[in-house]
Amino acid sequence: MCGIVGAIAQRPVTEILLEGLRRLEYRGYDSAGVAVLTGQQEINRSRAVGKVAALTEKLQDSPVVGNIGIAHTRWATHGIPAEHNAHPHMSNGRVAIVHNGIIENYAELREELKAKGYQFTSDTDTEVIVHLIEMHMTFGLSLPDAVRKAIENLRGAYALGVISADDPDTLIAARQGSPLVLGLGLGETFIGSDIQAMLPVTSRFIYLENGDFCVIKRDSLHIFDLSGKEVTREIKESNAGMCTADMGEYRHFMHKEIFEQPVAVQSTLEGRLGVDNLKHCVTGDNAMDILAVVEEIQIIACGTSYHAGLIASYWLEEMTNIPCSVEVASEFRYRRRPPRDNVLFVTLSQSGETADTLAALEKVKQDGSMLATLTICNVAESSLTRESDLSLMTLAGPEIGVASTKAFTTQLVVLLMLVGLLLQAKGESPETVKAIVENLKKLPILLEQALEKDKAIEHMAEDFIEKHNALFLGRGDQYPVAMEGALKLKEISYIHAEAYPAGELKHGPLALVDNEMPIIAVAPNTGLIEKLKSNLEEVRSRGGKLYLFADKAAAMQADDDCYVIEMPEVPEILAPIVYTIPLQLLSYYTAVFKGTDVDKPRNLAKSVTVE
Ligand code: F6R
Repeated sequence: MCGIVGAIAQRPVTEILLEGLRRLEYRGYDSAGVAVLTGQQEINRSRAVGKVAALTEKLQDSPVVGNIGIAHTRWATHGIPAEHNAHPHMSNGRVAIVHNGIIENYAELREELKAKGYQFTSDTDTEVIVHLIEMHMTFGLSLPDAVRKAIENLRGAYALGVISADDPDTLIAARQGSPLVLGLGLGETFIGSDIQAMLPVTSRFIYLENGDFCVIKRDSLHIFDLSGKEVTREIKESNAGMCTADMGEYRHFMHKEIFEQPVAVQSTLEGRLGVDNLKHCVTGDNAMDILAVVEEIQIIACGTSYHAGLIASYWLEEMTNIPCSVEVASEFRYRRRPPRDNVLFVTLSQSGETADTLAALEKVKQDGSMLATLTICNVAESSLTRESDLSLMTLAGPEIGVASTKAFTTQLVVLLMLVGLLLQAKGESPETVKAIVENLKKLPILLEQALEKDKAIEHMAEDFIEKHNALFLGRGDQYPVAMEGALKLKEISYIHAEAYPAGELKHGPLALVDNEMPIIAVAPNTGLIEKLKSNLEEVRSRGGKLYLFADKAAAMQADDDCYVIEMPEVPEILAPIVYTIPLQLLSYYTAVFKGTDVDKPRNLAKSVTVE
């Protein structure tokens, strides 16, 4: 996480850097800072604890002005959120850097540098890098060579931006593990953790590869690969600037993004559905030939994306008969598994930059254990899309709220499409493919109908303001929906919430149930509804208050201890997607009533680029 931005131009860059930081704030927001080289060849730095707005305010009183600079918005890893830990970090007033990533061997480097007389002013891992660079410059190396030499000593992940008072015409950028993109202007060049940061100033980008090292001047750009060879990287034009990333009439991005779901789903379906089949929409060589021979599927993801994977495993096994395992990336990457044949390795990610998911992909690529790798991702040109053999994009548009909403439902849409594509590739069950296609066509309308419950759910959320705990229940493919509901509630309202498969209650969690414990259940009328009802009776007879989302056919009776929101009738296959909506709204309104920072909940960041 952490967002970095940098610029070298013929005009003052501070405003450009600040706007870049505002657009990167989703990556971390506990402190921010900027450093520019002034006309007097001095590095002028300003840092503030809190959001970018705090830095902007500080700069109004004491501006920093220059045509080359770097800036950072932080998500603390080493050292508390405090001004002395905020980036840019500096060494002897001579070099300044911004860093995204983690330096694993920083403790030993710190001791070595201290022994050489360097004084540390922060608790960060980053500060070792800037002192190393300064030390090599003291030994006579140029800025580029000093940075090169310094990064030879680093173990871990980094995206770096470096400036020096000794070399006022150069901006250095380097990438290993953490994402970094160059933005190309006319006589000016920018660096950023993603293209969003630079969209106001350019639409031409170079996505750096791991190991890339760039020496950027106003009139030249040289990129070197890991071996030190100068390379040319492809320039990509982006029209992302046309997509608006503002809140419009909404109070929060999260609310806007919840309401965007019918349109996001429609865009994701656009051009991909035939009359009774799916268009071949997986990008990559021989995609359909690969799908035809898949014997097993391994899904890897984190957080909300992991929940989408869990739902898909029910679909995949029931409809294609292909065994499917789902695991969180941070566990999978460190586990040895027996080899299996013809496994399709599927990563799910909104950002395409999640460090654990990328590392899991890297691992299976290195050991060559998979038939092919496929990513389902919302960001074209992200690391996951570039590193995978195949990709199937969700087209949800930029998701700004830290809590994932439209990315999740569009992932589910694409996963249903994957079920259909596997069947098509294998020449199996055309009637199931047809049913998937027909149901997907109905989905945007059903989502609209679910969103009509907005006001009723706002009212329901009032009951949660004083709560400290909540239990979410579901059965079958609604169990991961309940997990997603619990994750949403905890991350934005800070209420402790857990999800259980309803049948598991009596094996322990029932002990938690009393009249203080709200129990939220997703209860569409599926084959498991009667089983679920018995589990809910167990809760009622112990004084628990129920909050149910159910359709008419489920015949749930509302009373003083049972709050029922009636959902539209939905085909069973679509129920996990549609029933996610009320849980998102419940979390959203609870958080609003509690007055938390909905779009930027404490301690979190949107793109988790550290392990
Ligand atoms: C929760 C949330 C996170 C992400 C997780 C993975 O609302 O957004 O749990 O789902 O950090 O991120 P991606 O999907 O970008 O890999």
